[in-house]
Amino acid sequence: MSVGKVLVLHGPNLNLLGTRQPEIYGHETLADIDDALRAQAADHGWAIDCRQSNHEGELIDAIHAARLDGTAAIIINPAAYTHTSVAILDALNAFDGRVIEVHLSNVHKRESFRHHSYVSLRADGVIAGLGSRGYRAALEALIAAG
Ligand code: DQA
Repeated sequence: MSVGKVLVLHGPNLNLLGTRQPEIYGHETLADIDDALRAQAADHGWAIDCRQSNHEGELIDAIHAARLDGTAAIIINPAAYTHTSVAILDALNAFDGRVIEVHLSNVHKRESFRHHSYVSLRADGVIAGLGSRGYRAALEALIAAG
């Protein structure tokens, strides 16, 4: 029996991590990040589901599924949809659990179009600029809160 269940959602282009602008996003691959999260969750008896999609509707469908399958929390890096997607915000607003928004880079140090996040209007916490550690910090916070 797991203590809690968390969904990790990675948005568009994050499948390219490791080779995509490593000076900004680091050298770790998405598989590296997800493997570390799975190990961290397992250590604490949590169930975890990690998904990536380049399609807005698929991310929304995953959030809808999380409303019905006992998911306690969502860690989401919406990538570029952060700055554009009212639809992802609306889906998250229909989800009752906790939501933590993660960005590998410090979006506030970058172009001004990255400074606004629709998802932040819903997120219970936001982590930006800590690289892949941000995801692990988000999971640690969720586990600590129980
Ligand atoms: C990102 C920041 C976004 O502005 C960008 O579009 C991404 C990744 C990050 O993790 O730093 O794709 O969400």
